[in-house]
Amino acid sequence: MKVIVCKDYEEMSWQALEIIKQELLKRPDSLVSFPGGDTPLGTIKKFVSAVNCGDIKIDRAKFVSLDEWVGLGKEVYGSCQYFLNESLFKPLKYSFAETFIINGAADDIEQEREAHEKFVEKYGPIAVSLLGIGLNGHIGFNEDGVDFSLNTHITPLSEKTKEVMGKYFNTEHKLTHGITLGINQIMEANVVIVIANGSHKAQIVREALQGEVTNRVPASILQNHPNCYFVLDQTAASNL
Ligand code: GLP
Repeated sequence: MKVIVCKDYEEMSWQALEIIKQELLKRPDSLVSFPGGDTPLGTIKKFVSAVNCGDIKIDRAKFVSLDEWVGLGKEVYGSCQYFLNESLFKPLKYSFAETFIINGAADDIEQEREAHEKFVEKYGPIAVSLLGIGLNGHIGFNEDGVDFSLNTHITPLSEKTKEVMGKYFNTEHKLTHGITLGINQIMEANVVIVIANGSHKAQIVREALQGEVTNRVPASILQNHPNCYFVLDQTAASNL
């Protein structure tokens, strides 16, 4: 595990972009996966600029989304699909060779799960898996207590996730489940990058990096990943 402590959010976003860029330079036809949420916004903005000015080529690369709230479609502000459309796909001047964005509002969510898993099977293993970390240590919707051997799966939301989901959208959406890339697929990724900023993440970052490896803190499994970066701003790193 490599820990990179940055002076602020801006530098954290640059550092994450640099790792993504190096991977795509080495493997231009590879599969990348980005999350939704607040943390990746800066990295994704910089990624878009780098692609649009020709610094990063994506015409042979493939993209798969990390996770989604079951029940939310692309038109719902706060869904991961909405976020990725607005921050990544609309401003991009070029397209990935192939993309799979989870539709949380699919009529048959099990079929959607299967299609996501098949996409990763076909184009994977993932070259770069960019992740945020939840306050309970979840990555994607791999919630506390997750089975580390799972691939793409549908899972009940933890109480902590239900507490914080109001920051993304109106909680009139009565959500109970998430759909997510599994820990097994994340652990198979060539490079994993966890980005975290803000003092509210300091405690869980410490547990993930320096605590025991346990499914009570899903991100702690990354201690066993051979090529994982935690890219943190100073406040998120303040308990290390
Ligand atoms: C959310 C998502 C994750 C995200 C994490 C952190 O609930 N399921 O994919 O990375 O929690 O979110 P944020 O970046 O908004 O803190």
